[in-house]
Amino acid sequence: RRIMKKYIMTPIYYVNDVPHIGHAYTTIIADTMARFYRLQGHEVFFKTGTDEHGQKIEEAAAKHAQSPKQYADGVSAKFKDLWDEFGISYDMFSRTTDAAHEAAVQNVFRKMYEKGDIYKGEYEGNYCVSCESFFPSAQLIDGEYCPDCGKKTKILKEESYFFRLSAYADRLLKWYEDEKCILPLGKKNEVISFVKSGLKDLSITRTGFDWGVKIPPELNDPKHVIYVWLDALMDYLSSLGFCAGGERMEYWSDALHIVGKDILRFHAVYWPAFLMSLGLNMPRSIAAHGWWTRDGKKMSKSLGNVVDPREVANAYGLEQFRYFLLREVPFGQDGDFSQKAIINRVNSELANELGNLLSRIVGMSAKYSDYAINSKDVMKFFTAE
Ligand code: ME8
Ligand code: MG
Repeated sequence: RRIMKKYIMTPIYYVNDVPHIGHAYTTIIADTMARFYRLQGHEVFFKTGTDEHGQKIEEAAAKHAQSPKQYADGVSAKFKDLWDEFGISYDMFSRTTDAAHEAAVQNVFRKMYEKGDIYKGEYEGNYCVSCESFFPSAQLIDGEYCPDCGKKTKILKEESYFFRLSAYADRLLKWYEDEKCILPLGKKNEVISFVKSGLKDLSITRTGFDWGVKIPPELNDPKHVIYVWLDALMDYLSSLGFCAGGERMEYWSDALHIVGKDILRFHAVYWPAFLMSLGLNMPRSIAAHGWWTRDGKKMSKSLGNVVDPREVANAYGLEQFRYFLLREVPFGQDGDFSQKAIINRVNSELANELGNLLSRIVGMSAKYSDYAINSKDVMKFFTAE
């Protein structure tokens, strides 16, 4: 079998919040894939990290009376520490506040601008700070609430640079014909209908706050900060040295994204369009998993019911927790976390079924083979009259 270079990525998580079970889920799936490919002998580059710019982070830092960078340093370290504690086998933990990444984002903006894919105009519409996302009025709930998270949006009317997303609709639809590009298939169909319903050009700069990467200085427009999603998505490339030394760019030829369904649109529509604009190949797959609730309810900071992954691992064991997350729901479906659910999995499957199997094997090996087991004897036993 041919040894390949494989690139596996988690989303880079926002630093406005500490890691919770949903972040652990995505990261553990990606870690499992990375370990699986390494076992098969492939060369894997597995990357996770944190997304540290944007208005949401600026506001969260102000609430904690810290500078955005100080605040980001603190929360980013919490993610990294947790992944280290969980034995996550990442090869790189990237941060969007790294100088090399910031330079790459400016360079990408410059490339797209020079290509004619970026133009200046005015954005008028609604913005959800919590999702860091723009919505046309027609999509809002009751005229003002975000269709993704339900929070109140802000009306924005500001000068903005736009990315010619509309020009990529046909090429995107063509790409969606690739069987494995977006998984699972039901999710891919949602993406296709979104694109078919018509793509508007995407506003990719913001004014009125500071915490982010400025557009290239030669444009003489210093009030424009690059949209946090363009900045964040570029991390997948800057981490390979894109727009710099390019030292790890070979990994880009086989790229796998693991994301939650909440951010599929950014990954399955905007991201491939940016890649097309840059003349790069598409990722092999973007795989979107489902959503975890707790005891049937949505988890949120305001409800105070967020599951702390460290607490679960301490209470039930890290391997038990990993097993539960991967076993409880098929990939792509939503899951519900409860003490009862994890206790059931541990007792009935790990202790009862697997535990029983092991104890029978040990028992039989004592009886029949003096504790020495080889696969031929085992097969003899199972096929014996
Ligand atoms: O969206 N159930 O970061 P984020 C399952 N910075 N997964 C969950 C979850 C839940 N209840 N809650 C969170 C961002 N997740 C951007 C990404 S990538 C270029 C930029 C997981 O901190 C899931 O993977 O809001 C989801 O997609 C991700 O955390 C969102 O993390
Ligand atoms: Mg989020």
